Amino acid sequence: MSNSLQEKRILIVGGSSGIGLAVAKQACKAGGKVIIASRNAVKKHNNLAAIVGCEIETYSFDVTSEIETETELRKIGAIDHLVITTRPEITPAPFVKTSLEQAKMAFELKFWGQYQLIQKAQGHISQDGSIAMTTGIAGEKIFKNFSTMTIINSSTEAFCRSLAVELAPIRVNVVSPGFVAPKSPEIEKYSQQFPAGKIASPKEVAEAYIYLMGSPYTTGISVVIDGGARLI
Ligand SMILES: NC(=O)c1ccc[n+]([C@@H]2O[C@H](COP(=O)([O-])OP(=O)(O)OC[C@H]3O[C@@H](n4cnc5c(N)ncnc54)[C@H](OP(=O)(O)O)[C@@H]3O)[C@@H](O)[C@H]2O)c1
Repeated sequence: MSNSLQEKRILIVGGSSGIGLAVAKQACKAGGKVIIASRNAVKKHNNLAAIVGCEIETYSFDVTSEIETETELRKIGAIDHLVITTRPEITPAPFVKTSLEQAKMAFELKFWGQYQLIQKAQGHISQDGSIAMTTGIAGEKIFKNFSTMTIINSSTEAFCRSLAVELAPIRVNVVSPGFVAPKSPEIEKYSQQFPAGKIASPKEVAEAYIYLMGSPYTTGISVVIDGGARLI
């Protein structure tokens, strides 16, 4: 499996920061050809290339825009793997105080954004390639004030299983992170109760995407990387 990403074209949408950027670095170390896309990736090209440590391609588009997504995918051309790590801006709030508008905006980016991107990427992804979406443990463990992320993440996991059947032989999987650095001192303290005793580094989460891309018999699963946070 160690050489399986060598020379593979890996598109990471949401790869300009956080978990996606850590995936870009790991993919580069594994010999992959890294392509980073996000709304502002092109203007950060030099900085991103320096962080990733390889030659990269960058493209800028908003996943909620059908026309931008189609246009940029056409420029990107053929890829082997698609990783999606886009994150919505959402403030945790009790369900009764959650604005429907804000909940719909989060759905628009994280659920429908992934949906549209995967649909438009058909024909670009190699038949022995893969797709990895991102959810989060709020889809599985119930935290007060996270009802919007709970429904987005759990519906994305059901969507993944559905696509693993419909898009085969392309493999479709999900990574479900728990609490990932950087986090507030309060969350750092809370994380000491986890079996792993700490929050995750982006690199620790990124390794799950590398495993999923390189594992030819793995499809339709959700890999939870939460240090056991969902168990307490
Ligand atoms: N961090 C955590 O603790 C945690 C926990 C559980 C789950 N997750 C999930 O893990 C994923 C990554 O989280 P993160 O914390 O690494 O996020 P992050 O650092 O905020 O990065 C988000 C990325 O998405 C891009 N992006 C945002 N809106 C976009 C849009 N409309 N179109 C295209 N790109 C867009 C951003 O770049 P631009 O601004 O340039 O567009 C950036 O590259 C998310 O799905 C998040 O829900 C994270």
